[in-house]
Amino acid sequence: DDIMDPEYDYLLKILLIGDSGVGKSCMLLRFADDTFTDNYISTIGVDFKIRTIELEGKIVKLQIWDTAGQERFRTITSSYYRGAHGIIVVYDVTDPDSFNNIKLWLNEIGRYASEGVNKLLIGNKNDLTDQKVIQTEQLKELSDTLGIPFLETSAKESVNVEKAFLSMAKQIK
Ligand code: GTP
Ligand code: MG
Repeated sequence: DDIMDPEYDYLLKILLIGDSGVGKSCMLLRFADDTFTDNYISTIGVDFKIRTIELEGKIVKLQIWDTAGQERFRTITSSYYRGAHGIIVVYDVTDPDSFNNIKLWLNEIGRYASEGVNKLLIGNKNDLTDQKVIQTEQLKELSDTLGIPFLETSAKESVNVEKAFLSMAKQIK
């Protein structure tokens, strides 16, 4: 194990899950490389990126696993839940199905993740104000009911993406 690696104080493993097309890969691309593309390349299986941050005077290496939302990859993606310290459930604020499916994703967490894993709800594509159908109040209500914190983000316009990953890191620590 790389626990003795002097390059960092903590290694945190964060998993991104949620329906296909909600913007998980774009969120990770924004956070790790500060880029964005409108081209949709659906993730095959699982992918990951690393970014090292400073948090409360400690060097924290974030290993972020980006999973495919497509059903056919479910067996492979679910095998990554166990090792995660934090899981971010993403939906698309313009897509009610992706919001309704949050409960299915939480079931997957219950089945495959470690007990007491940290969770965060993310409503992405919040830049699409005209097409937005899931209002912030609705998300807040769900967040209160479940006791899981939430944020609305735009990977495209780089709003709250940094905050999402940092707040997950803080929650884990
Ligand atoms: P899978 O890999 O299939 O599970 O999808 P994904 O959740 O990784 O979605 P991805 O990040 O590939 O984004 C899907 C599409 O949504 C792409 O065309 C992106 O350009 C677009 N998209 C992602 N984030 C945003 C955003 O914040 N705003 C807008 N307007 N479009 C976005
Ligand atoms: Mg993807």
